[in-house]
Amino acid sequence: MTDSKMSPTRGLDDPLLTSAQIIQRTEELAREVRRDFGETDLLLVGILKGSLYFLADFSRALGGEVEIDFIQVSSYHGEKSSSGVVQIRKDLDSNIEGRDVLLVEDIVDTGTTLSHLRELLQVRKPRSLSVVSLLSKRVAKGNLFDVEYVGFEIPDEFVVGYGLDYGERYRNLPEVFILRDEKLQ
Ligand code: PRP
Repeated sequence: MTDSKMSPTRGLDDPLLTSAQIIQRTEELAREVRRDFGETDLLLVGILKGSLYFLADFSRALGGEVEIDFIQVSSYHGEKSSSGVVQIRKDLDSNIEGRDVLLVEDIVDTGTTLSHLRELLQVRKPRSLSVVSLLSKRVAKGNLFDVEYVGFEIPDEFVVGYGLDYGERYRNLPEVFILRDEKLQ
């Protein structure tokens, strides 16, 4: 297993974000959220699949009373142009009416997924609906979509690792890497 051909990071440059940076920022975000919500019982909603590692670390950093649920929406990625429509593939198990709901995302790219999810979930009358995303490209793309808690603003590059995939690969890397065009395969 020491063969470099077996390394999952083969062909990737140095990490854009190391594990230490991710964990440190995650703990800061958790403190910000607890400062804003106090010890309120929060419902964390992980958006599958990319958020799985961030949700795991963030929820543990948050401590206190939390419940966890998941939602999955149709991915429009890989299509040349987005239909702009996001449909639910796996819905929540919980009733969110009157709850403080925090959507947990790995990355905001165009903002399409989150803006549709906000609309869909707002109809169910949560007491509050906020978003925490580890990564955001909104500055790079000039997207004005509002995300309450952002870990890192990153350049407009394709990133993998820590839940983020390319064709379902790379999700389990503990760090975030840029996957440059010439390496897409
Ligand atoms: C990724 C990511 C976000 C979304 C962001 O999910 O996890 O949910 O894209 O993009 P947007 O801001 O342009 O809408 P993807 O659809 O690739 O599914 P995955 O999480 O299962 O990889």
